[in-house]
Amino acid sequence: MTRRVAVLPGDGIGPEVMTAAAAELGPGIEQVHLDISADRYLSTGELLTDADLQIIAGCDALLFGAIGDPRVPDGVLERGVLLRLRKELDLYVNLRAFPDMGIVFVRENTEGPYSGVGTRSGDVATETSVNTAEAIGRCARYAFEMASQRSGLVTLVHKANVLVHAGSLWRETTERVAEAYPEMRLKYEHADAAAYHLVTDPSRFDIVLTDNLFGDLLSDLAAGLSGGLGRAASANLHPQRSTRPTRCAGLFEPVHGSAPDIAGTGKADPRAAIQAARMLMDTLEKERVAT
Ligand code: IPM
Ligand code: MN
Repeated sequence: MTRRVAVLPGDGIGPEVMTAAAAELGPGIEQVHLDISADRYLSTGELLTDADLQIIAGCDALLFGAIGDPRVPDGVLERGVLLRLRKELDLYVNLRAFPDMGIVFVRENTEGPYSGVGTRSGDVATETSVNTAEAIGRCARYAFEMASQRSGLVTLVHKANVLVHAGSLWRETTERVAEAYPEMRLKYEHADAAAYHLVTDPSRFDIVLTDNLFGDLLSDLAAGLSGGLGRAASANLHPQRSTRPTRCAGLFEPVHGSAPDIAGTGKADPRAAIQAARMLMDTLEKERVAT
């Protein structure tokens, strides 16, 4: 069966780096190019349409460039396109590997402080972190399954000494999952200490399991420590795709943003996007072998 990959270049340096990345997909893949961008939003008012979603859900995977544009207020494109895709396709694991450091982040990708729940009333704002045992548990299982292929160590990172509600749910749920993996080890670190240790003693980590926001921050830190954002790629996955209606195995993207300041200058490093395309091909290849 011909495999089909949706390619979404997006904004800023997205289109430049995607040209190099899409070439990596090879001749055996049918590419479906999507114009979902700030330009389209500014001319039609559309973010991610139902028709776009349907096309993506019918592809085997999505290769994503970058979105974000100074002409559009912060959050409109990020929430309306990238976060919506993660949520609608239920891509619950955000995997970011840093081979030079020997560290992989398993970031919960659908909830936490990214829930979008909150209010702004004049000078008072709330931003609610939503956490469920279901979402934590499936990420934790993914991390422990991966640990059995690696050193066996999973470090849960949270801030359970301050964020006591979410923190205790994360700890209890992860400990419960760990019981099913008696050969593996589970450690816990607070997020501030983990940031310090990523810089001073990264060898203490192997798999870092963490929530959406800590994972966002700490994976940029790790990128800065290992070759820069021009190199880091991520896979947004729904690992059990055979059990669900959509065909799409995941969204693969460079960790960097749209960098509008250097767009069109030729300075953008395409290696992260190329790496994302390689992760996409690896994922499809593993599935092909497994089925
Ligand atoms: C990332 C990005 C996104 C995030 C933004 C663009 C919404 O920073 O993929 O890490 O915060 O998850
Ligand atoms: Mn980020």
